[in-house]
Amino acid sequence: MPSGLILGIESSCDETAAAVVRRGAETLSNVVASQIATHARYGGVVPELASREHLRNIVPVVRTALTEAGIILNDLDAIAVTEGPGLAGALMVGITYAKSLAYALDKPLIAVNHLEGHIHAVLLEQAELAEEPMPLPALALVVSGGHTHLYLARRSGASWHYRNVGRTLDDAAGEAFDKVAKLLGLGYPGGPWIDALAPHGNPKAVPFSFAQIKPKPYRKDAHRDDPASQFLFSFSGIKTAVLRYVQTHDLAVFIEARRRALAEISNPKPSDALPLCDDETLNLIASFQRAVVDDLRRKTFQAAEAFDAASVLVSGGVAANRELRVRFTAEAAERGLPIAFPSLALSTDNAAMVAAAAWPKLLEGETAPAELSAEPSLTLGR
Ligand code: KG4
Ligand code: ZN
Repeated sequence: MPSGLILGIESSCDETAAAVVRRGAETLSNVVASQIATHARYGGVVPELASREHLRNIVPVVRTALTEAGIILNDLDAIAVTEGPGLAGALMVGITYAKSLAYALDKPLIAVNHLEGHIHAVLLEQAELAEEPMPLPALALVVSGGHTHLYLARRSGASWHYRNVGRTLDDAAGEAFDKVAKLLGLGYPGGPWIDALAPHGNPKAVPFSFAQIKPKPYRKDAHRDDPASQFLFSFSGIKTAVLRYVQTHDLAVFIEARRRALAEISNPKPSDALPLCDDETLNLIASFQRAVVDDLRRKTFQAAEAFDAASVLVSGGVAANRELRVRFTAEAAERGLPIAFPSLALSTDNAAMVAAAAWPKLLEGETAPAELSAEPSLTLGR
C-alpha cells in the first residue's frame, strides 16, 4: 500500500461529509456540510430532505476534501463509505457516489459500519497525537442521536472485533436531549442547548431516578441469546417525566413565549435562550442532564468492570457533552482506568472516522462487493 490514502464518505443522517486520511493515522482533510439549518424548523431530521441535501452536497464536499488534502483522485488507494446504520435514502447517496468513484478509478471500495466509525474517531486522534494506544479490551460507549450502545472492543492483527454488551430499549440518549429541548422550546439539535444551559441550574432540584430502568446486573448465564441485553438503557421514560413536570408546573405558557422569542432571532444560539429561561426551567434542564449522564456513566463503568475492560472510550454526538466528559473522567480516574473521547469536531458525524475505520479493512483485503447496498439497520459486533 504505497501511500495508504483513503477517501471516506459519510451520509447516514444529516451531515454530508468527506475526508482524506492516511493509514488511519493522519487526517489530510475533513469536510462536513451540516444540514442543521434545513431540519431545524421541523425539530428533527426529515428523511426526504436529508436525501435531497446529500445529493446537492456530495460532489462539492468530496471535491473540497480532495483540494484541502492537496491530492487528486488518482492518488487514492481506496474509497470508503458508510454502509449503515442510518436513513436508507441518505445512505444510498453516499454509497452510489462511492461505488461510481471506485468503479471509474478502478480502486477498492470499503464498506464501513457507522458505529465502528465513531469508535475509530478516538483511535485516529490518538494515533495523530502519537499517544499510547488504548490498553485493550476497551469498553466503548457509542452515544448519539440514533444510538446508545456498549461494545467490548479488541484487536487481533490489524482487525478489530466488537462484542455488543449493552443497548437502549427505546430512545437513544441524544434523541432524549433533542426531544426534551424541543419540548422546552429550545433549538435543534437539542444536545448543545441543554449542555450550555444546564450549568445555570441545580442538577439536584428534580429527582428523575424513578424514570430510569434499573441496571441489570451481569449474569454469565443471562441473556445468552442476546448479549447486548446485559446492560440496558431506556430514555423514553425520562422524556415523559419532563413532559409531566412541564404540565404539573404550568410551564407551557413560558415555553411558548420562549419558542416565539427564539423564532424571531436569526440563527439563535443557546446564549440567546438563557435570559428566556427562569430558574425552574434551568433546574429542570440541569436535573435532566445529570440523570442521563449519570445513567450512562453508571452502566458504562459497570460493564467495564464486568468485562474486565482495560480502558474506556466514549464517542458519538453526546460525547461532546461537557458534564458527561467531566463525570466520566472523574470516575475513570477513581478506578484507575484510562479514558478517551474524540475532539468535539470528531464526536459528531464526520468522514475522517469512516476513512480511519477503513484502513485495517484495506490491510486485511476486506473490500466491498459491487452490489453493496444501504443497510439502514446494520448492527455492530455480535
Ligand atoms: O453522532 P451524531 O452527530 O449523529 C448520530 O449518529 O446520531 O450525534 C448527534 C446527536 C444529537 O442528538 C445531538 O443533540 C447530540 O448528538 N449532541 C449532544 C451534544 N452535541 C451533540 N448531546 C449532548 N450534549 C452535547 N454537547
Ligand atoms: Zn453518528
